[in-house]
Amino acid sequence: MEDVVSEVIKKALGESKIFKNREALACDYIPNRLPHREEYIRKTAELLSPVLRGEKPSNIFLYGLTGTGKTAVVKYVIKRFTEHAEKAGIDFFKFSYVNCRNEDTNYRVLFKVGSDIGAKIPFTGLSVAELHNRLREYVESKRMIVTIVLDEVDFLVKKVGDDLLYRLTRINDELYRSKVSIIGITNDVKFVETLDPRVKSSLGEVEVVFPPYDALQLADILRERAVLAFRENVLDSGVIEYCASVAAREHGDARRALDLLRFAGEIAERESALKVTIEHAKKAREELEVNAATEVVRTLPYHSKLILLSLATRGGFAESTGSLYLAYRKICDILGLEPLAQRRVSELISELDMLGILTSKVISRGRYGKTKEIALGIDSTVILKVLSSDTRIGEYVKLLKNDRNR
Ligand SMILES: Nc1ncnc2c1ncn2[C@@H]1O[C@H](COP(=O)(O)OP(=O)(O)OP(=O)(O)O)[C@@H](O)[C@H]1O
Ligand SMILES: [Mg+2]
Repeated sequence: MEDVVSEVIKKALGESKIFKNREALACDYIPNRLPHREEYIRKTAELLSPVLRGEKPSNIFLYGLTGTGKTAVVKYVIKRFTEHAEKAGIDFFKFSYVNCRNEDTNYRVLFKVGSDIGAKIPFTGLSVAELHNRLREYVESKRMIVTIVLDEVDFLVKKVGDDLLYRLTRINDELYRSKVSIIGITNDVKFVETLDPRVKSSLGEVEVVFPPYDALQLADILRERAVLAFRENVLDSGVIEYCASVAAREHGDARRALDLLRFAGEIAERESALKVTIEHAKKAREELEVNAATEVVRTLPYHSKLILLSLATRGGFAESTGSLYLAYRKICDILGLEPLAQRRVSELISELDMLGILTSKVISRGRYGKTKEIALGIDSTVILKVLSSDTRIGEYVKLLKNDRNR
């Protein structure tokens, strides 16, 4: 009897047969150990160690592809330093962690820094210059070493330029008792080249490059997280290796590997399975790929969507750019739109090719010259599904789909 009741309770509380602690696979979870990043943890800690003596560390620029552990390493080191300061009762160094994807204006960045280091700053109402001055005065009055981490800094610069970066790297010229240093993090190597040379050289006093993980390293990372996340013996053998090898084949992205593993577990749970199998991991991979593609298609420019629509309605294939262009014009006609010129459409096709949504292949037709065959890289039904939720062409796509089903 009791067992029945506890089963009901367990179910009601949503206790999982698969997961012990799902959170351990979440992307913002900072584990206590970061396998295969010991060297980078040491390096980062050493570079930051002057703060322990009340001295300014060099500015640091960290780069590396997405999911190579940059954020995890920096957050880990900051956490450990902060714990040390608390234990030792030290308050002469402070860290501020800013994710510039979320804090994407100069005001918001400075506001976040202010609140992290204890400066009282109004949420709105000041000019950026004023805010900057107040922060500087506050820092100077406290006699402290402030390290500001600007994670995904390319988002800020692409949106509002590098003015703030420039100011921040110069702030020490007007500080006497205190100092500020910057850690910039990005996964966009090209971005670094677009920076103003002055900003680039002062920000990149020290540069650290994070390499991608290989399949064996990813498997180690997954294994450690799996112990925290899954119940004992629910992971079938080979699941971790499968997720690791898929992520390694792309570009050694630990986030992708963790997502796959978590999602495989969720699918197993959904199916009320008792074990997570390779089949679940394969399904997870497929679903994640469709989701990613869906996201890309959803955010495309209007005419790129129309080109995809033209292609999807022809079964996902066009024997030449010309024939695809005709189909596109027809759709523009029906929708009462001015079509783009064929050259522009060709450019958009190349962009879609680069995004991996379609592939175009030049075919030689002997004395008839060359043509370009174009094929969708994503299932037509997926494309039509995404486009049917578009505000402008959704209704039309739904009509088309009904026609096809009839
Ligand atoms: N060595 C590692 N051990 C355990 N987990 C790791 C390791 N490296 C990365 N991770 C985990 O992988 C995920 C992605 O890592 P992280 O966020 O640090 O990547 P990133 O380099 O900052 O990527 P991006 O450039 O996209 O921001 C996180 O959940 C992180 O905890
Ligand atoms: Mg990151």
